[in-house]
Amino acid sequence: MNSKPIIVAPSVLACDFNYLGAECERMEKAGADWLHLDVMDGHFVDNISFGPPIVQSVAKVATVPLDTHLMVERPDHFFPRFIPYSSNITIHVEPDYDVGNTLKSIRAARATCGLAISPPTLFEKVEQFLDQIDLLLVMTVNPGFGGQEFIEETMFKVKRAAALRARLGLDFHIAVDGGIHADTAAIARASGANVLVAGTGLFRAADAVRAIKELRDL
Ligand code: DX5
Ligand code: ZN
Repeated sequence: MNSKPIIVAPSVLACDFNYLGAECERMEKAGADWLHLDVMDGHFVDNISFGPPIVQSVAKVATVPLDTHLMVERPDHFFPRFIPYSSNITIHVEPDYDVGNTLKSIRAARATCGLAISPPTLFEKVEQFLDQIDLLLVMTVNPGFGGQEFIEETMFKVKRAAALRARLGLDFHIAVDGGIHADTAAIARASGANVLVAGTGLFRAADAVRAIKELRDL
């Protein structure tokens, strides 16, 4: 099912923020491919995480691409503030704004664009955008908090996306985010996901090198 290489993206939300730079370096040394940054505005989700200054701080130390996940009510308004630091910007399909136009604007600003879908949202909502994205982020928990349990029912979206990608000759990454550990990563990989975002499972692991290898099934 997997036509693309496995990419492991530690979610910085789960790091020890007293040591932000060192924590990011620790994940890079352990084998991370990207760093994932969860921006929450207290409106789209019931939590507030961090904004541009933290992403900028990570960008100063990072040598791997930064993958910014905007869980905000107005992605169209806020994405430009993250452009200077991000390789990829992922926006959610659920808020009320012009999704297609925002995806285009992200690419025009020389970043790749991702589209995220929350567990309760119908897959049909993202279907029309599949030929305009570089990454589809299938949320495997309800967005807002780290440390939640993987919702296996979301795997039909991963499978559907992989099938449509093959049928339409498209090339986007399929990412999963939330509750990813060795066992759930295996389920996600078997379903067709190639980008594995993990917070708790990596930052809180006793052995990060091993935890990253396990996500890749090495
Ligand atoms: C959830 C965030 C995730 C979160 C994952 O809203 O988008 O990236 O940090 O955390 P874990 O891996 O702990 O479920
Ligand atoms: Zn995320």
